[in-house]
Amino acid sequence: MLHHPPAFAVSLLVCAAFSAAATAAPQLPGAEVYEHYCAACHATGQLKAPRFGDRKAWRPLIAEGQAMLSRTAIRGIRKMPPKGGHPHLSDLEVKRAVAYMANQAGGKFKTHE
Ligand code: HEC
Repeated sequence: MLHHPPAFAVSLLVCAAFSAAATAAPQLPGAEVYEHYCAACHATGQLKAPRFGDRKAWRPLIAEGQAMLSRTAIRGIRKMPPKGGHPHLSDLEVKRAVAYMANQAGGKFKTHE
């Protein structure tokens, strides 16, 4: 360790950055929420989930409107568990993921700041 002071200093900095992020509880962007919490089903169409980027599958869902579709994702529907089975996600994070998925399938949803 003494022979590598720079590496030691870097790992300390990284730890500090992580704990700062944890206390601030940052709201994840839609793409990140999707990758971590939604892709498990939506990338493959598991359980007949509408597949990511499948315009045909998403067209009727997008037509329901952003507010409706966000509400459905938060509450769950049939085999889609509330918030995709990740209750620690905030409503905002789920809404961002919905907007991201809809827009990747031809939607024009507002992305939430
Ligand atoms: C355990 C698998 C699973 C995960 C994880 C999952 N979904 Fe789903 N999702 C489904 C299934 C299955 C459906 C189709 C439900 C139906 O219409 O029967 C669905 C449907 C949807 C729909 C369309 C709802 C409608 O009105 O039919 C949206 C929007 C959606 N999911 C968003 C999300 C978001 C956002 C996440 C991540 C936070 C997520 N899903 C994670 C399985 C999943």
